[in-house]
Amino acid sequence: MSITVLDVKGFKGSGGPFAMLTAYDYLTARALDEAGIPLLLVGDTLGIFVLGYSTTVPVTIDDVIHHCRAVSRAVGNALVVGDMPFGSYHLSIADGVRNAGRLIQEGGAHCVKLEGPLFELVAVLTDSGIPVMGHLGLTPQSFHQLGGHKVQARTQSAVEQLIENARRLEAAGAFAIVLEAVPTEAARRVTEAVGVPTIGIGAGPHCDGQVLVSSEMLGLSSGARPRYAKLYASLHDEIVRAGRTFIEEVALREYPGVEHSYEWAIR
Ligand code: KIV
Repeated sequence: MSITVLDVKGFKGSGGPFAMLTAYDYLTARALDEAGIPLLLVGDTLGIFVLGYSTTVPVTIDDVIHHCRAVSRAVGNALVVGDMPFGSYHLSIADGVRNAGRLIQEGGAHCVKLEGPLFELVAVLTDSGIPVMGHLGLTPQSFHQLGGHKVQARTQSAVEQLIENARRLEAAGAFAIVLEAVPTEAARRVTEAVGVPTIGIGAGPHCDGQVLVSSEMLGLSSGARPRYAKLYASLHDEIVRAGRTFIEEVALREYPGVEHSYEWAIR
């Protein structure tokens, strides 16, 4: 690791917006690290994009630790953010500290991310030496409570609450705050109100940083994508194409060729 949480804090207001992407496996993390991404999030979205669940709710702390290990083995430069999954920090402060510690100690994460206005837990973790990234706006672990994945902070009072929560997260010690699925103007106001970087996903252009889910931006997932999920590659189509070509070449005996086969070595 060469990017630290202090570097990330310093990104605010210096040199333009920065990028974060999710990564769940060794090879993708290695490629994105080579691309120069400063932050890699081992998000609980691994439940959807790796494990095939329809929400992030079933993901366990052991799932995230398993994928964190692979990602942390891959990186040379990026800061690895381990996502605290549903149920791993809600029971008690002590439980949250224990599970955050596992992400750092067993998973190799450099810091953790958790959803919602849990100021006391953020303060205890920060005081224990575990850096915390907050996450406000749409918090997908509250899928059932929110009634689905819906844009948040659409009223004046909701925006004021969002600003208040962001300020309190900063005061509790959060070094950055993800803002998910909030209107552009709400994200702009939060970004101006806090001294730590905001990292937007579906939150418009005024955040200090932008995060995307790598499986969506790489075009690995083939279903419907949210509005903000711009395609930077079409890997699903590429995999289907390569798979079809292989099947065809095998059937036609075009593969393997001489160049893919070993010669008789016994003399
Ligand atoms: O788990 C995740 O991928 C996230 C991003 C949507 C920010 O929390």
